[in-house]
Amino acid sequence: MALTDIMSNMLKRKNPDDALAVAKSGLEKTLGVWDLIILGVGAIIGSGIFAVAGIAAAGSADGTSPGAGPALVISMIIAAIACVFSALCFSEFASMIPVAGGAYSYTFATLGEFAAWLVGWILMLEYVIAFIAVSCAWANYVVQFLKGFGHVLPAYITNPPVWLVSDFRSAVHTLTNQGIDYHSVIPTICGIPFCINLPAILIILFISITLVKGTKDSTKMAAFMVALKMGIIGLFIVTGLFFIEPSNWTPFAPNGSNGIFMGAFIIFFAYIGFDALATTAEECKNPQRDLPIGIIGSLVVTTIVYTLVALVLTGIYKTQGNVAPEFLGAPLAYAMGNVLHGWVAKAIPGFMSIGIIAGLTSVLLVMEMAATRILFSMSRDHFLPEVFQKLHPKFNTPHILTWTVCIVSIFGTLTLNLDAAAALCNFGTFTSFIIVCIAILILRKIDPDRPRPFKVPFCPWFPLLGIFCCGGLMVFSMVIAKGNSARLSTELFFAWIIMGILIYASYGYIKNRKAEDNKQENL
Ligand code: ALA
Repeated sequence: MALTDIMSNMLKRKNPDDALAVAKSGLEKTLGVWDLIILGVGAIIGSGIFAVAGIAAAGSADGTSPGAGPALVISMIIAAIACVFSALCFSEFASMIPVAGGAYSYTFATLGEFAAWLVGWILMLEYVIAFIAVSCAWANYVVQFLKGFGHVLPAYITNPPVWLVSDFRSAVHTLTNQGIDYHSVIPTICGIPFCINLPAILIILFISITLVKGTKDSTKMAAFMVALKMGIIGLFIVTGLFFIEPSNWTPFAPNGSNGIFMGAFIIFFAYIGFDALATTAEECKNPQRDLPIGIIGSLVVTTIVYTLVALVLTGIYKTQGNVAPEFLGAPLAYAMGNVLHGWVAKAIPGFMSIGIIAGLTSVLLVMEMAATRILFSMSRDHFLPEVFQKLHPKFNTPHILTWTVCIVSIFGTLTLNLDAAAALCNFGTFTSFIIVCIAILILRKIDPDRPRPFKVPFCPWFPLLGIFCCGGLMVFSMVIAKGNSARLSTELFFAWIIMGILIYASYGYIKNRKAEDNKQENL
């Protein structure tokens, strides 16, 4: 086959009208604008603010990625700006082509088959790795929470061995910091050191079982989770206000612009999730009007909340110098416990941890569900084996896909820790945001007459700024972060892309041609 034929196949676009026609026969339309904002805030607020904020403020555990210090608030605003341009582009697409599949479907409509596959593959990186990262954060909070029960529960639960609650690299780091030779603590199997993050694996199994059995994804439950999370954050802000020491805010930016931009790259993770709203398009009562409001509204609410948390967190705890390792894993609960005394010192962080653990659990549900939903559409588009479309005979859920994601995530927790997983997830999300911004520019050129109930203002400047901000933060982090975690996530990102290209060449491309031939025969 000639190279030009291969190229034209790879660039084959899916007509937005075909996608819309399929969407018409679909799901029940129940979501209004408030439901969307609640869902958005529910999907966005999670381990980013409850866990990753510690690393963004104080730097990574291995000391190779600089922290923003009190300038975390500036990092938060920079990350929000990077998101807002992409959010506007997502909104234009969601109002114009309201179909499930989000960025994956938009790319199929504009850049064609190969780019759509690559975006879907990268979205896997976003959702599956976010799932791994949030499960690591969940484990940190559970371990921190159980420590508070030292007088009631046995020591193996309240103070578990480090090799049972973290990955190998984090365990070595913790032990080295304590001046302990890891060989004397970490057990080996056939000479290979053995570390597992047991709490993270247990929550991954629990979420997967829940999803296989079918979740009633009611907005009532989401609203309850959001109320709990917001209540906890409100409690943190209000209580924290009484303990702010302005001296903790100086120096404001201990690592200068490097710390601020690195902080922005890391804390970007905290904003991930608003794009998942676009995948609910087929369930919205009035997607053209409500989705842009939902996407931008939840981003605005989140940004306000995050900047307040950043100010209080860095005001009550000194983020420069030697910070406690617990602060890096569970900054909000640790910082609060650090300033309180007596029984309140135990009660408030404990209460906060319960809310945070519940909040993280809801993010985990959304992340694994989003991953399986996108994989499901990719399998329908012949990019993945048909077996993934099989539904559970009793529960009617895509159980093979759910277990696949579960097993991959369990392996992920053996090699990735929170900061490496969050950085890897950011690379995937930045790339998908950049592609959506490019796709907006292309669709404005090739399909200018399509009705656009919501339009990105100042086009082409805003999409171009989205590309510049996301690309800039991504390249910056690759250049600045020299630590093992950063190197690992950069290498894994490129390995993921190469693997995606190889799978497309050896499977997706061939299967799509076969599907076209079959369609021709049936006509
Ligand atoms: N934004 C989500 C979180 O922070 C991924 O957990």
